[in-house]
Amino acid sequence: MSKPLLIANWKNHPESLARGTNILQGFSKKQSLFKKTSLFIAPPLPYFETVSKKIKNYATLAAQDIFFTSEGTHTGVVTPEILKSFGVKLSIIGHSERRALGETNEVVAQKVKTSLLSNITPVLCVGETTRDTEGDHFGFLQEQLKLSLEGIRRKDDAERLIIAYEPVWAIGKTAKDAMQPSDLSQMIIFIKKVLTEIFDRESADKIPIIYGGSVEPENAKQLFDTDIRGFLVGHASLDPQSFATIAEAIV
Ligand code: 13P
Repeated sequence: MSKPLLIANWKNHPESLARGTNILQGFSKKQSLFKKTSLFIAPPLPYFETVSKKIKNYATLAAQDIFFTSEGTHTGVVTPEILKSFGVKLSIIGHSERRALGETNEVVAQKVKTSLLSNITPVLCVGETTRDTEGDHFGFLQEQLKLSLEGIRRKDDAERLIIAYEPVWAIGKTAKDAMQPSDLSQMIIFIKKVLTEIFDRESADKIPIIYGGSVEPENAKQLFDTDIRGFLVGHASLDPQSFATIAEAIV
């Protein structure tokens, strides 16, 4: 069994590189623990050079987004080649906070393709905005997965994907508002079913599904006691002690 995946999505935090360096000092004290996980850290772009040097013994640099093409000349964007030159091996794609800025499933699918072509592992984020007793979220998720993976059909591409299930209503809260483990188990089964419809059973079984949305020290163990293969952690990844406790829960 491969190591559990742990991805720190720092989003637009912390407010300064000095504060980021401080967080990494806390992380480095827990190196031996983090080495038992497959740890990726996705900081804001201007922090890349410093972060990549400081984490090289125990973690790998990740991007929070990828530009949808490697071609042409574009002002204000960072291409996959630039990301790779800093050692980026994985990119979050289609995060709900980017979708909220107008990123469509079509653009997300293009980014997944570009990421695969660039040899950067895509972590495709999906998740419903709200839930109701009618179960409309199942249909929403099925469509989001299908459209975000439009045009990706090759077996070897499918088997390089990671799916991050992040229900939008559970993001940025506290452990008590996060998804319950029993609901998460149900969603994992559903996502696997949709992936089997898109690809085939064999490939679907190989795609790791991770969870994000208020993963904190208090709920990490229970959430990991499902079929989940790791976590995409937001606010708790900015606190070395909380993040280490989450890592302890999954190793
Ligand atoms: P929180 O852990 O802050 O809820 O964020 C989750 C997330 O959006 C990670 O990508």
